[in-house]
Amino acid sequence: MQSENANAPFLILGGTGKTGRRIAEQLAAQGLPVRIGSRKAMPAFGWDDRSSWAEALEGVRAAYIAYHPDLAAPGAAETVGEFARLAVSRGVKRLVLLSGRGEPEAQRAEQAVIASGAQWTVLRCSWFAQNFSESFMRDMVLSGEVALPVGDVGEPFVDADDIADAAVAAFTDDRHIGQLYELTGPRLLSFRDAVAEIAAASGRDIRFTEITPADFEAGLVAEGLPPDLNALLTMLFTEVLDGRNAHLGDGVERGLGRRARDFRDYATAAAASGAWGETK
Ligand SMILES: NC(=O)c1ccc[n+]([C@@H]2O[C@H](COP(=O)([O-])OP(=O)(O)OC[C@H]3O[C@@H](n4cnc5c(N)ncnc54)[C@H](OP(=O)(O)O)[C@@H]3O)[C@@H](O)[C@H]2O)c1
Repeated sequence: MQSENANAPFLILGGTGKTGRRIAEQLAAQGLPVRIGSRKAMPAFGWDDRSSWAEALEGVRAAYIAYHPDLAAPGAAETVGEFARLAVSRGVKRLVLLSGRGEPEAQRAEQAVIASGAQWTVLRCSWFAQNFSESFMRDMVLSGEVALPVGDVGEPFVDADDIADAAVAAFTDDRHIGQLYELTGPRLLSFRDAVAEIAAASGRDIRFTEITPADFEAGLVAEGLPPDLNALLTMLFTEVLDGRNAHLGDGVERGLGRRARDFRDYATAAAASGAWGETK
């Protein structure tokens, strides 16, 4: 991406999270200036604190938008749209949105970013493989039982490294302007299949158990999860995994010109890096 000011930073919202951290590392490795957007960053950025947005956007050339907690959450589209419009009014040229598949609220957020007037790229993603190693399902893996309200529906888990590669390409190559990429892995796996892959790669004894949404919610309540997050997680497992997303996307091939990383390669690499403790 050409810029009048080579020192103008890329703002990476969620820049210490699963996708943002990888994007920030790649840009920095290319010698490009990066500003992390998160509550602990300097300046701090909070989705709930609109007064923090303008300072985070100061002098920025392009922004990666990873909304928290989830683009499927009620009100996400309005908030993301408001942020995108402010960004454009502050001179930000390019916006890359991290989105999810089969989620009406996420698709409304995509429309808001597209309508903002920015040069846009949408990365509409399947479930991340890294949810098993860098998010809430890691504790389940470590406990030896992954108990979820999901049956044998196929999901093409995408590797966060592929998402980061696509985001960096969108920032640095004009051919991605105005493109919506559906990023998925190359293979449909059930959650049971995914857990079996992790068990094989890590050498750990891990089983998958299908539970009812009611039992899942009760477990989240017992862990002290706030009711709105509880409802969101249950919705993600029951609605988004009802079969509507049981197909592959071509975004990695189309955007990056190569095959998407397979879940087995993710599980092998995560196990080798100690994501689930020492490999047995
Ligand atoms: N996980 C999936 O399978 C999946 C699939 C498709 C799409 N998505 C989308 O991915 C997005 C999440 O991306 P991710 O997984 O890369 O991020 P993540 O790992 O969930 O996010 C953590 C990052 O968000 C920051 N953060 C947390 N609360 C914040 C707040 N209130 N205001 C500002 N920043 C906050 C954290 O830093 P601080 O703690 O310092 O604030 C950290 O940098 C969601 O919008 C979701 O819809 C996820």
